[in-house]
Amino acid sequence: MVDRNGWEEDASVPTGSPHSPPASFVEQANVTNEAIYEEFEERWPDCWERAADLLSWDRPYETVLEDGNAPFYEWFTGGELNASYNCLDRHLEAGRKTHAAIRWEGKRGERETYTYQDLATAVNEFAAALRELGVEEDDVVTLYLPMIPELPIAMLACARIGAPHSVVFAGLSADALATRMEAADSEYLVTCDGYYRRGDAFNQKSKVDNARITLEQDVETVVVDRLGEDLPHVLGDGEYDYDDLVERHAGETVEPVSRDAEDMLFLMYTSGTTGEPKGVVHTTGGYLAHVAWTTRSVLDVKPEDTYWCAADIGWITGHSYIVYGPLALGTTTVMYEGTPDYPDRDRLWEIVDRNAVDVFYTAPTAIRAFMKWGEEYPAQHDLSSLRLLGTVGEAISSRPWNWYREHIGGGGCPIVDTWWQTETGAITISTLPGIDEMKPGSAGPPLPGIDARVVDAEGADVDPGETGYLTIAQPWPGMARTLYDGDDQYRTEYWDQFSDPDHDRWWYFSGDAATVDEDGYITVLGRVDDVINVSGRRLSTMEIESVIADVDGVVEAAVVGRSSDIEDTEIYAYVSTEGDCEPDETVRESITESIEAAIGSIARPEVVIFTPELPKTRSGKIMRRLLEDVANDNQLGDTSALRNPEIVGEIQAEIRQE
Ligand code: PRX
Repeated sequence: MVDRNGWEEDASVPTGSPHSPPASFVEQANVTNEAIYEEFEERWPDCWERAADLLSWDRPYETVLEDGNAPFYEWFTGGELNASYNCLDRHLEAGRKTHAAIRWEGKRGERETYTYQDLATAVNEFAAALRELGVEEDDVVTLYLPMIPELPIAMLACARIGAPHSVVFAGLSADALATRMEAADSEYLVTCDGYYRRGDAFNQKSKVDNARITLEQDVETVVVDRLGEDLPHVLGDGEYDYDDLVERHAGETVEPVSRDAEDMLFLMYTSGTTGEPKGVVHTTGGYLAHVAWTTRSVLDVKPEDTYWCAADIGWITGHSYIVYGPLALGTTTVMYEGTPDYPDRDRLWEIVDRNAVDVFYTAPTAIRAFMKWGEEYPAQHDLSSLRLLGTVGEAISSRPWNWYREHIGGGGCPIVDTWWQTETGAITISTLPGIDEMKPGSAGPPLPGIDARVVDAEGADVDPGETGYLTIAQPWPGMARTLYDGDDQYRTEYWDQFSDPDHDRWWYFSGDAATVDEDGYITVLGRVDDVINVSGRRLSTMEIESVIADVDGVVEAAVVGRSSDIEDTEIYAYVSTEGDCEPDETVRESITESIEAAIGSIARPEVVIFTPELPKTRSGKIMRRLLEDVANDNQLGDTSALRNPEIVGEIQAEIRQE
């Protein structure tokens, strides 16, 4: 059977049915022995030595897990190490100086390769420069840079001298930068004059100037000259040109500072329930061990691979799986500055082809866009180098999952659907690709050593198929240790709901709703706040969305509740369709029929609004809260954080017509 996109559907494999990892993949996989699950259970927490063993320690740790002050756990206590040493020096010592560490692909087609030696030199010089500016151990350095090599260089330079970095996504506003610097009391900033956006020069420095005006503290600011003559800039007091600084320290080396395993490696701000950003604290030992371990066991990365995580370093995915994980393993990590559709929609596939990328990791929102653009773009390139594909960031329904496997993975690549969070630091739920069967749409079982459970409000395991709360009942090395300046808030946000301190029970609550099947595979449905109550039944908006997204012609959907006086909540579905699919009554009917068949008539949407795009944050998450305000005719908050704010007005106009 050929579907409407023209690709063959294997009639014997209905979408959603499991796939075994191909034998050719299993043969070469890093982790293939299924006894690993049992071993981690029996030897917990000592099993995590496997992760710590992937690192080089200046001083061996004494205790794997210190749990005397739960939920403030400590991992690998007594151990000392340096993250930059682990990502650089030890590879040089192993004779891998000329091995490519970073392959950078710029927005304007520029290409640069940093060997491990090149990267080490750049990191040492910038570390010396930071010291010259007065940066000392434990000073928080804010990095506000786009995807240019100076960003990982600055991160590793900070790590080298024991100064935690706080990366603020370059697309965030001056206000967002100021709030984060203020909260972290950060007196050092590394930024740039600007960057290119779809070919145009965009001024970043003016945002920095605006942020600095509002800050009380003095800030020493290093400015990378990214745009040259395209956007001349002047440096004021306390501002330094990156190249000039580095030149003054050419050829210098800086001894990596031995850090306690529990010392902070970085801070990462993420959105909080109260609207205030939360500064999630990650440590040097546990975090690095967990990311190195999962890069190896889940993403199956080998030192000789060319590996590409197409995320932005401004988010946790980029920290863990563009910078720290791959570099700790000594592999080649691709770093891409641009967007997937510029200059054309085959840009990513051209990069995969030219670099012979082995492992590719992206987000479902990107996969849905590729699907919408059509299979002809990947088809223009040879993608046969790919061995494994990954996804992260939100649930992926079975149609884009199958499309990804077929059109990017050539039908033969396993896919890992990895569930984790800024707070978990590294992957916590995913299949192990050399062992487990994959079930499209479900992330998989918890990783070995991770006690993830789906429970009801009292903490009892829910029955297979029932919706519950996703919790983790044992600590893990990559977990956030606290919120910067907010131990109490850390406990309230993550631990109070499911813990029972009287019985020394400490369970982490992820904030996500999920289901689990008979095989222990967890399907994450989304944030619990995304559950709506219709006639006393709790319905997951994600579940409804995933049914809609599987309707022919639909690309993605967002479902929200509208409170009505007469009855209770009404369901509003915002739907975007493929380029060649006219959103008409037939599609509308298919949507309703599919929902009735899959969930029941109770979940039938009152209103289906077609829109060319859904409003999304800059990290690609659908802004459901905003869509809920639109449905409820509420005053809309600030939409400047959106990637596509213009779409909101169009949607409002559409609703008025309904
Ligand atoms: O709701 C889950 C969703 O993304 C949230 C974490 O977002 P953030 O901290 O920005 O980190 C994103 C990258 C790790 C989770 O609470 N999420 C992440 N991965 C998945 C997912 N939802 C479903 N399936 C996933 N694989």
